[in-house]
Amino acid sequence: MKSTLSRRDWFRSSLALTGGVMLTTSMVDELMAAPTSEAERLHMLGAKPTTRLIRLGSNENPYGPSAKAREAIKSALGECNRYADDESKQLRELIAQKEGVSTDYIFLGAGSAECLCLTGMAIGLQGGSVLSAFPTFRLLMEYAVKFNARWDKIDLDPNFVHNLEAMAAAVKADTKLMFLCNPNNPTGTVLNADRLKSFCVEMAKKTTVYVDEAYLELLEPNEQISMASLVKEGHNVIVSRTFSKVYGLAGLRVGYVVAPPDVVKRMANFQMGPILNQAAMAAAKASLGDSEFAAYTRMKNGEALKFFLSYLDSKKWMHGNSRTNCVLFPAPKDGKMILAETEKKGFQIRIWEYQGKEWCRVSIGTLDEMKLFVKAFDEVVS
Ligand SMILES: Cc1ncc(COP(=O)(O)O)c(C=O)c1O
Repeated sequence: MKSTLSRRDWFRSSLALTGGVMLTTSMVDELMAAPTSEAERLHMLGAKPTTRLIRLGSNENPYGPSAKAREAIKSALGECNRYADDESKQLRELIAQKEGVSTDYIFLGAGSAECLCLTGMAIGLQGGSVLSAFPTFRLLMEYAVKFNARWDKIDLDPNFVHNLEAMAAAVKADTKLMFLCNPNNPTGTVLNADRLKSFCVEMAKKTTVYVDEAYLELLEPNEQISMASLVKEGHNVIVSRTFSKVYGLAGLRVGYVVAPPDVVKRMANFQMGPILNQAAMAAAKASLGDSEFAAYTRMKNGEALKFFLSYLDSKKWMHGNSRTNCVLFPAPKDGKMILAETEKKGFQIRIWEYQGKEWCRVSIGTLDEMKLFVKAFDEVVS
């Protein structure tokens, strides 16, 4: 308990240290879109607007927003002359109810990206280190590095799953936070929930554990086992969730954290003013209980994912057991060429670097989009 308190004090003091340092949305955008490889860096130098491409590069939901969210946005239009304070309070209450906690455990952000950035900034300013698997969603760590932290990376295991033993062994005296992304981006792989839970409990005795559950609702309902219960039990754990993925609200920017109340308070102190907006609050409220739309997304994503994985299998290209809306597999040819040629054929995908090799990360679009993509990609790489 004593060490938990001191780690919370750490979070408090790091956020207090931020003083006048502000996150700007352009800093966040820059990092969200940051190149994940030399191939992407070179490709982006000549980048054109991507609006006319079939977007298989950002793990978005091609089916959203739901009909209920669209209706709610329309109804909210009349309130757009008002700051969304009451509406964000209502959303926070609904989320707290859903998570089974009081509202002081919930921090609402402009996407879960804002929560990741605030946390990364706090660590960076402390000058410690952050530990994560690699490859994984990098925003928190890159933010920490921007503010001078060290990022310790542990390779995934050969099945592209977090190597928990190696991560446990890599915790150092100055490890301020361990980041776990479950399901993981870019591989889509999932950790066994019981194993993850006991791992988080053990690790939280040594450092703050941050679990990013952006894709959790893409798993079947009985598999959606959140680590938020650990926060309730008083463990040194922070969990983030988002409305961007299963609910298809990426462009509206709503995410949240379930964290100990003192952490939430500090995050709120350093949020950039009234950042939450009427349309986003309305759409998120309408989406929260919309299990029908979530099930529809899961079903459609599952179909398209199955089709795409069978294509990869037919090529004998290695991939993890993705359960979400993205897949990572070895780039069959030069990454920069793949980016350029797939773009010419109308598709946006990503190239990552890992273990000295290039890898394609393809987001799962609609089944029709995936059929078109497979045809185009096959031409590009054969
Ligand atoms: C694992 C993970 N976490 C968080 C985010 C950020 O999402 P948002 O800021 O839209 O909630 C993403 C976006 O792709 C992601 O893949």
